[in-house]
Amino acid sequence: MRTIPDSIVVGIGKGGSCKTTLATQLSGIWASEGKRVLLADLDMQASATKVVGLDPDQHGAGRHLMDSIMYGDDLVTVKARDNLDVIVAGRHTKTLSNHLVTASGPAEAFALPFEKLMASGRFDRIVFDLPPSGSSRLADMAMQTGKYLLVPTSAGVDNIDGLRVLAGELDELESEILLLGVVLMKISAGATRMRADAQRDVAQILAGVADPFQTIIREAGAAYDDSRKAGLFLHEYAEWASTISVRNQIQGRIKIPTNLSDLAREFYSLADEVDDRIALAERLLEGRQ
Ligand SMILES: Nc1ncnc2c1ncn2[C@@H]1O[C@H](COP(=O)(O)OP(=O)(O)OP(=O)(O)O)[C@@H](O)[C@H]1O
Ligand SMILES: [Mg+2]
Repeated sequence: MRTIPDSIVVGIGKGGSCKTTLATQLSGIWASEGKRVLLADLDMQASATKVVGLDPDQHGAGRHLMDSIMYGDDLVTVKARDNLDVIVAGRHTKTLSNHLVTASGPAEAFALPFEKLMASGRFDRIVFDLPPSGSSRLADMAMQTGKYLLVPTSAGVDNIDGLRVLAGELDELESEILLLGVVLMKISAGATRMRADAQRDVAQILAGVADPFQTIIREAGAAYDDSRKAGLFLHEYAEWASTISVRNQIQGRIKIPTNLSDLAREFYSLADEVDDRIALAERLLEGRQ
């Protein structure tokens, strides 16, 4: 089985579990810190493409990845920020997914363009944003050929049950993908007991596979929506907000959500934790060779 070097798959999880939020915000932070990141949008809804501020239809609507996998063209990437390029998704992403259902050697065909890009030395890291579980062949291919897996989840019985299924699936999956950890998302900052319970449940379910991340991303829908409306990553929006004078804020001319800087800080500390786990995994994998 082949593995795409330095690839992080953000996935497994129903619609709205924050896969795209996690994939895009981490990509943005890593790029701002100097890592050359390729964000690969594998969802025909093109949410990640839109979060970084690109219009899918103006950039091929998924044609680049389709042409590369189906016809062997060089994979086209679109620049979104310094150090951040995107594989744009869109309506052609669905055509590609359907093609892979009947293609022979689909995992190899999927992995090849990404392997070539990584071999070119243009990028340090690929982040895959997956569509909802079970909805696309592209998600299966990324799970089979990705190196690391990052899973977002919220608290609550249904979500935690979903993790149990995940733990079972990971056992059965024909894949060498390594679970870096589960990220608890959208949990109220004040819900101390819920936070502790969720962290304990995740630790139990994934015992022996991966530890939960210490960082929990708080519920802060308004702050998140504001950053989206501004067309900025959370860390960019928080930086801009810090330049707004107190006078303007007090007089209500510009309203900054109070929890914005906390939310941005949490994504920074999560990005560091993920980096640490990747570094640890790399050391362990090297030791095995
Ligand atoms: N910290 C937060 N607090 C509250 N809501 C949030 C937060 N971050 C993101 N959201 C909201 O959560 C929702 C789900 O986000 P997202 O698009 O990342 O999910 P997804 O798993 O990628 O969904 P899909 O499976 O459809 O691709 C969005 O509506 C977003 O506005
Ligand atoms: Mg999504």
